Amino acid sequence: MPAELACFDQQCGARFPITEVIYSCPRCGSLLEAVYPKPETPAAEWKQLWRNRRLSNAPLEQSGVWRYREFLPFLSDYSHVVTLREGNTPLLDAPRAARFGGLDHLSFKHQGFNPTGSFKDNGMTCGVAQALRLGLSRVACVSTGNTSASMAAYASAAGLEPLIFLPHGNISFGKLAQALEYGARTLQVEANFDQILALVRQLAEQLGIYLLNSVNPFRIEGQKTIMLELMDQRDWSVPDWVVLPGGNLGNTSAFGKAFREMKEWGLIDRLPRLAVIQATGAAPFYHLMQSQDRSRLIAVEHPETLATAIKIGDPVSWPKALAEVTASSGVVEMVTEQEIADAKAVIGQCGIGCEPASAATLAGIRKLVSAGSMGASDEVVAVLTGNVLKDPTYTYEYHTRKLLSRDNTPIESNLANEPVLVPYDLSRITTLLDT
Ligand code: F0G
Repeated sequence: MPAELACFDQQCGARFPITEVIYSCPRCGSLLEAVYPKPETPAAEWKQLWRNRRLSNAPLEQSGVWRYREFLPFLSDYSHVVTLREGNTPLLDAPRAARFGGLDHLSFKHQGFNPTGSFKDNGMTCGVAQALRLGLSRVACVSTGNTSASMAAYASAAGLEPLIFLPHGNISFGKLAQALEYGARTLQVEANFDQILALVRQLAEQLGIYLLNSVNPFRIEGQKTIMLELMDQRDWSVPDWVVLPGGNLGNTSAFGKAFREMKEWGLIDRLPRLAVIQATGAAPFYHLMQSQDRSRLIAVEHPETLATAIKIGDPVSWPKALAEVTASSGVVEMVTEQEIADAKAVIGQCGIGCEPASAATLAGIRKLVSAGSMGASDEVVAVLTGNVLKDPTYTYEYHTRKLLSRDNTPIESNLANEPVLVPYDLSRITTLLDT
């Protein structure tokens, strides 16, 4: 049985060829996922194979995605792959952040070390490979910034035409600059992310453009490798918790699927609990988990947060995310703008740094530990989704006490590190540094 696309709704259960250009089930409208037959190979052999490949100079083996290609076998031939050596992101110990969060120990899986500075690269190399295989020349996405930066880079590297739709005035300059630099045709639309996504889905169908948002199941396949690489780095020892920020919920879906499949393959013996953290002004998934009726997500019409990466009110992947969080006995938490800002500064003080959305993880950990949901001695891995340089305006404004939330409420700069203006004068600088 080859790789197939399957409807995520178990009751529908429809299956389609892997090369069909669809983003939702044509029968029932649900999300799709790639499915494969379970291999016979013993888990120990996979582990050895993937570890050995790290020694190779071949581009495919140097990629932290394609090194694990047997775990996402949707391609029949790898000549279409364009790799920028994505993945290979470090797992960093952060004692200071652990103390802030109330944990004995905490490590960060830092996806900001990717070629375009975010976790999107893991999925994008797969989405672009599928576009090439299908012979499609134009690709599109709507984005809060990181998906567009990543798609622009991978599409251009592959000789495709990238077309990007952005919510005007709501993405950081670091991300917008990347899209422009990588040569994407960039349209800034006067609407929010959720509205533009609905429009782009229609456009993609009408114009035959390949859609590379996270509704694209091949993006999800690539993002699975973030967790596979994590387990490889931990010598396959499962942590108690994996904590991540939640926006459109593609990553939550990918991580859940990765752990489920790792367990099916015998690579791990239990699932870690997923903890998904949202910003209070854009927390529809948190509210869904709190409600009695989980059959329908109530969208936040006007999502608000300075963590623009996760400023999403109607996350498309919520049914998958709900299933994965439930299967892992996970939790969903929300954190305030102030909590995100301070947690971000603490991650900076660790010498690590990240963009605002990523810092929601540490803020969430602090809240979950103080509520007793997470134990101080639990083994916790938090995923930092984007690089500190993605949003320098936010960081500068925090440290210079100018950060305002969207309704103009000031954010306290509790850990501000202000630059000091000094005259060109040796004795005055000496006096300043002596005190
Ligand atoms: N963190 C960062 C830095 C992101 O860019 C995103 C999503 C998320 C977290 C949330 O991940 O959507 O899978 O739940 N950014 C998308 C974009 C929406 O367009 O770049 P998610």
